[in-house]
Amino acid sequence: MKAHRIALIAACAMAASLSQAQAPAKLKIGLMLPYTGTYAALGIAIENGFRLQIAEHGGKLAGREIEFVKVDDESDPSKATDNVNKLVKRDNVDVLVGSVHSGVAMAMAKVAKDTGTLLIVPNAGADIVTGAMCAPNIFRSSFSNWQPAYAMGEVALAKGAKKAVTITHKYAAGDESVKGFREAFEKGGGQIVKDLSLPFPGVEFQALLTEIASLKPDVVYTFFAGGAAVKFVKDYAAAGLKKNIPLYGAGFLTDGTLDAQGADADGLFTTLHYADSLGTPRDNAFRLAYAKTYKMQPDVYAVQGYDAAQILAIGAAAVKGDLSKKAEFASAVEKAKIDSPRGPFMLSKAHNPVQDIYLRQVTSKENKLVSVAIKGLADPARGCKM
Ligand code: PHB
Repeated sequence: MKAHRIALIAACAMAASLSQAQAPAKLKIGLMLPYTGTYAALGIAIENGFRLQIAEHGGKLAGREIEFVKVDDESDPSKATDNVNKLVKRDNVDVLVGSVHSGVAMAMAKVAKDTGTLLIVPNAGADIVTGAMCAPNIFRSSFSNWQPAYAMGEVALAKGAKKAVTITHKYAAGDESVKGFREAFEKGGGQIVKDLSLPFPGVEFQALLTEIASLKPDVVYTFFAGGAAVKFVKDYAAAGLKKNIPLYGAGFLTDGTLDAQGADADGLFTTLHYADSLGTPRDNAFRLAYAKTYKMQPDVYAVQGYDAAQILAIGAAAVKGDLSKKAEFASAVEKAKIDSPRGPFMLSKAHNPVQDIYLRQVTSKENKLVSVAIKGLADPARGCKM
């Protein structure tokens, strides 16, 4: 072989290895979501939405390829600290994304706070995450439990209800949802005659439904989601309550659940930061892309996953992919208007979306927009010192 050819081959080999050496390390994302149990469908929708947004960036953020490390958290708070520690300490993820269940998210927020790891919460509404536990490295793309619940308290009053019974799973999300509803409902002169609950993720509703029938309130307010929401709506109708006592809920009651609930969900009023018929160009484009990619319709969880990735993309671009620059990451996200399918929103000082809460009604298997219940609603962020 001629000398100049050898030199050329050597130069090419060197260039190749140099460009390999210079390719930035993959950006490691720890996805901690439920893939089994009553919230499994919610975890899948969040991951789908997240991946769709990453795909819209050509599969990379700030020039870094993405590597996912996935954990099924089973919506089990007792396993959450171990699960999140593995992601942070063993897998060395650059950012944590999770979870759905408030108890799991609180454990994630504690580890994020202690280790300084970036955390983006794509669902769990635990008020404390953007309240007393708020931190510069913790962000939420979804809602606080207080937000949709408070709005429904006002809606129930406006519809003339004076006496309500509440029913939910007994854990942070259910308790806080009921508390938010109570705050608005009592402020306007309403009265809660009884709070009913059962342990998560139980679905033995019969005795509680019998109690509702005998209490005869004007309305029932409820927080259930996923598989439990499907069964509750069906059982409520089967018990003959639906025609006599209006059932109101935080919108999770009917989001991602309508195919399984069928006619038993028809007519239900709920409040949430998303609806199926917003009809904006932004939402239409998102819904079309999601349906094409996944052969199913998006729901609020898909939107929240998509927006969690938008928050990451905005922060990552600002620090040119160097996620160790936490202060610059936060400052870019704090200034950003997130172009969400739900409508544009900004984060509060405590890093929770300030957003419109919609009143929706189930019609023909869709959560149809009725009106904006409260415009630009900010969580009070009680206890946040930031
Ligand atoms: C929660 O645990 O915070 C939670 C779970 C499911 C939802 C909403 C909130 O749909």
